[in-house]
Amino acid sequence: MEERSVHEGWPRTVAVVGAGTMGLGVAECFAVAGVRVRLVDASPELTRRAKERVVERARGHSDAALISSDAAARAEGIETADGPVEAVEGVDFVFEAAPEDLGLKEEVLGVCSSAADPETVIASNTSSLPINTLATFVERPERFLGMHWFNPPEWTPGIEVIPAEGTAPDVVERVVGFLRGIGKRPAVVGDGPGFVANRIQNALFLEALRCVEEGLASPREVDEVVRSCFGFRLPFFGPFQIADMAGLDVYQSVFETLEAGLGERFSPPGAVRERVEAGRTGTKSGAGFLTYSDEERDRLLLERDRRYAALNELLENLPPVDAGEDT
Ligand SMILES: NC(=O)c1ccc[n+]([C@@H]2O[C@H](COP(=O)([O-])OP(=O)(O)OC[C@H]3O[C@@H](n4cnc5c(N)ncnc54)[C@H](O)[C@@H]3O)[C@@H](O)[C@H]2O)c1
Repeated sequence: MEERSVHEGWPRTVAVVGAGTMGLGVAECFAVAGVRVRLVDASPELTRRAKERVVERARGHSDAALISSDAAARAEGIETADGPVEAVEGVDFVFEAAPEDLGLKEEVLGVCSSAADPETVIASNTSSLPINTLATFVERPERFLGMHWFNPPEWTPGIEVIPAEGTAPDVVERVVGFLRGIGKRPAVVGDGPGFVANRIQNALFLEALRCVEEGLASPREVDEVVRSCFGFRLPFFGPFQIADMAGLDVYQSVFETLEAGLGERFSPPGAVRERVEAGRTGTKSGAGFLTYSDEERDRLLLERDRRYAALNELLENLPPVDAGEDT
């Protein structure tokens, strides 16, 4: 396995506050990358057990050859603290992953921000609570922002970085640089409901559920359609580039059919209609949501095909993960 070089620079030390599903995975990820981690949960006993679990987890990843034995040894070096004040003492960065409860976040962020050094950056892993509200719980809120990881955090590269209105730009820059440096793919997004990822993911889930409820397909069939049809493209391209490659004129026609059958929530969006009217139908016309020279388009389509062929090969060589029966 290819070992990434050990992290250097900011932050040298991180406190992970809340060592459950997400906090444990993020703590492993930071420690494996070479950051000094201090872990704290709701009580010393829970913290002690969390430390045991994270060490076991890293060993399991090493035994499965997913990380090196050196990296797993770094997870053994995770420190623990008896409470949040001790945890944040002298650290460069605090990562809060306590349960999704506004009152609890208020307490935890309040305690951590008054005990930490004034320059310590503080991030919350909240999935849905408004970052601007959480910022009001933090002393010196210019050093606070959202950092929304996805489960399992050790392996999912994408992280939403959500500045509050008052977050200092250099804090955002430092956090993005750090995450990129440890191999993650951060995207800076606004503080809207569900940010970007959960809003899109939940819209997809609602529509998937409607397909089942209308008797179009079973949950298993919907899952197969999503992952093997359009979902097959998603590791490489997002919805705008996929639309450009399909043709926005085609999208417009599909929207018209959907609108006729399912109502105005599927009306062709203005952003599609205007582009089609202007002849910006996607890669085939040189512009859609993005612009493409002839060379760029040819390269894009070739690289797309390479990636799809590689993904097909990977999928064919992995054992299936199908599980369970339809209910
Ligand atoms: N589970 C997910 O898939 C997921 C994904 C992205 C973001 N998140 C967010 O991450 C945060 C944590 O979620 P989770 O799934 O890890 O929850 P979890 O319940 O698995 O873990 C929360 C941990 O916090 C601990 N805790 C409770 N009170 C505490 C306190 N006062 N101080 C320190 N620790 C305390 C709990 O004992 C527990 O170990 C939430 O804000 C959640 O919305 C979760």
